[in-house]
Amino acid sequence: MQIDVFTLFPHWFDWFRGQRHVANALALGSQLHCVDYRVHTPLRAGQVDDTPFGGGAGMVLRVDVVEAALRARYGDDPVTVRERRRVIALTPGGRVLDDSWVEQLAAQAELTLLCGRYEGFDERILDHFCSDRLSIGRYVIAGGELAAMVVCDAVLRKLPGALGHEDSAHEESYSAALDGAPEYPHYTRPAEWRGWTVPDVLLSGHHARIRAWRAQQSRERAERSGGASLP
Ligand SMILES: C[S@@+](CC[C@H](N)C(=O)[O-])C[C@H]1O[C@@H](n2cnc3c(N)ncnc32)[C@H](O)[C@@H]1O
Repeated sequence: MQIDVFTLFPHWFDWFRGQRHVANALALGSQLHCVDYRVHTPLRAGQVDDTPFGGGAGMVLRVDVVEAALRARYGDDPVTVRERRRVIALTPGGRVLDDSWVEQLAAQAELTLLCGRYEGFDERILDHFCSDRLSIGRYVIAGGELAAMVVCDAVLRKLPGALGHEDSAHEESYSAALDGAPEYPHYTRPAEWRGWTVPDVLLSGHHARIRAWRAQQSRERAERSGGASLP
């Protein structure tokens, strides 16, 4: 898989590339390339943004700047790029990423991720250059870089060989293997700590009963709408 990330902070991804499953995916042939909007801006003094028409706070990433960066990377008119590869704008108002979308993205040979900053993108960037608008959740962070890392992390760990143990990405929260439900609880040694014990079934060595218990736990967590909240 070949992923291009358009950003104002390409060096942020140096750390990300070193994370084990990302490094594994890259060693196995995937590529993660960053394009710096500022390097390709046609404006003076590295300008990439401007004040919003109609007034209001903050600065907006300019359409001509993003076009120049896309042209520099792909060589032709950026309106045609989305016909041959997914060009995904990271934006809080987009469709919220979930496991089935991650699966779809992991099946792509090429992806482009556009990071916004400040107030976000000039809307014409989204309308004319992008195939998708992706949100990592219904909240706002300062820029698209962490959102791009979330997408890359979730996608790259789906690729064969990225995780040490092939089954790890198969049966986990929201996967088809668990019918889209959250994963069941895990325990490890010690079997008792401060009087807190491990369910007997997990110590029984009875694989069929363990499988059934885990499936039941997973279903119950789904019924409790995620089960992530603290008591
Ligand atoms: C401060 S945010 C802009 C928020 C925008 N003014 C709004 O209210 O929707 C700057 C950039 O961070 C990224 N971003 C922030 N929250 C995000 C989220 N939940 N999902 C994806 N990207 C996000 C986007 O690239 C966005 O353009």
